Amino acid sequence: MSARALIFAANWKMNHGPGAAREYAQKFLALTAPAVDRSLWFFPPAVSLGALSKSLRTRPDASVGAQNVHWEPKGAFTGEVSIPMVMEVGARLVLVGHSERRQLFGETDEQVVRKTRAAIKAGVTPLVCVGETLTERESGRTEQVVLRQIGAVLQAIDGAAWTKVALAYEPVWAIGTGKNATPDDAAQIHEVIRMELGRKGVSVRVPILYGGSVNQENVGLLLTRPQIDGVLVGGASLDPKGWADLVERGSRAKVRPSGGYDLV
Ligand code: PGA
Repeated sequence: MSARALIFAANWKMNHGPGAAREYAQKFLALTAPAVDRSLWFFPPAVSLGALSKSLRTRPDASVGAQNVHWEPKGAFTGEVSIPMVMEVGARLVLVGHSERRQLFGETDEQVVRKTRAAIKAGVTPLVCVGETLTERESGRTEQVVLRQIGAVLQAIDGAAWTKVALAYEPVWAIGTGKNATPDDAAQIHEVIRMELGRKGVSVRVPILYGGSVNQENVGLLLTRPQIDGVLVGGASLDPKGWADLVERGSRAKVRPSGGYDLV
């Protein structure tokens, strides 16, 4: 697959079972043509991975990923799914450390590291999410929190492996709330993350997506910022027509850097 510079990631959360996923794909494919310089990533619920990856198989620009995985390949972990299992039904990506996993299910930095490491080892791309809560932002700790979360992964993953990692900055207070960080705020934190990667010797270009109440109206402005390499979208990705529209608007707004990523 050729390297693609711009990433649109849809996080369906606990929406769209296999039947709805198939229907979605049919509608979405009729509305968007493949473009060589962008990737479309879909994170459906685990039970819909197989149906969705099959429905999207004709599209080299589309990949599917799991919203969560366990780091062990198999074993006595009731209710969990492993990386080899999701790969078997077509996953090429995994979301790691989404704030809902961290906040609602107690996922720790240490677990995020284990999952990230296991994903890289298995050959799927982890999309690792970081971001501060409202309290943390209001007490001026945004950078500190984001750098702690990134730092845990930086410590555990060595330089070369970063060619297969993507990051998402998602301020927790912006997720599903209709409030989003301004393009300048987002760009500033992306810059902080990028500098930290550089300081820790990660020389490859790691894509950094922005997420948190991204919609058709604000995607264009966010993607005009060179620091923002794509978007991770929940609510506004659930309707195929709305998502196709968002992808087209975002694609028109973005000036692509030369080169791209070869992640999936
Ligand atoms: P939202 O969710 O777009 O609905 O705010 C984003 C996310 O949780 O990844």
